[in-house]
Amino acid sequence: MSERLKIALTKGRLQDKSLELFEEMGLDCSPVRSPGRRLIHPLPGYPLDVVLAKAPDVITYVEHGVCDLGVVGKDTILEKGGAFYEVLDLGFGRCRFALAVPRGSDFYGTYKTRRLASKYPEVTRAFFEKKGMDVDIVKIEGSVELAPILGLSDGIVDIVETGATLRENGLEPIEDVARVSARLIVNTASMKLHKGQILDFIGRCQQALDGRN
Ligand code: PRP
Repeated sequence: MSERLKIALTKGRLQDKSLELFEEMGLDCSPVRSPGRRLIHPLPGYPLDVVLAKAPDVITYVEHGVCDLGVVGKDTILEKGGAFYEVLDLGFGRCRFALAVPRGSDFYGTYKTRRLASKYPEVTRAFFEKKGMDVDIVKIEGSVELAPILGLSDGIVDIVETGATLRENGLEPIEDVARVSARLIVNTASMKLHKGQILDFIGRCQQALDGRN
């Protein structure tokens, strides 16, 4: 008899894409499609409960083993790190991290210490550390594009999907920092304890992804 496993899904942009994939895997996601205010959703006909959470919390729950699996963006993985298995690139939620600056500004053409604003201070720190460049980093919680407009920073490190937000705010990407997409992650102990069930889930995921190509 299979035990019920728990999977944490990142709410928002990745949520719908995750559910589309699960439906292609033959899972009935109707409880998550009309969630109301409930946060845990047992799927009928398959031993899996879906939890909806903010991206960093997906990692926290999987790391602590209260969720066996998670779907989270590589951006959050790069920022937060943690001990878990990253088993599949799910192929959706594709975007890039970029360094962006006010259009026409010469970011590298000065010796003064540059200041960067980002929701991802760790990714920003690692990027400039690799270049051996000393920068000031200011953590911003959202709409980071405002920081250079308001004069708080010389540039930003942020997610670029269509590029529209940068364009409409007079900024331009000048360098790629990393490629990002949604990943399936697995708690390390769950992988041993529920190996058969988890491999079944990963196999169905892989098959559905192969069916898309
Ligand atoms: C993300 C990101 C950019 C925008 C990029 O923000 O931080 O602001 O999307 O998308 P685009 O290239 O298609 O314009 P999000 O919408 O998640 O909101 P937030 O900035 O408030 O976190």
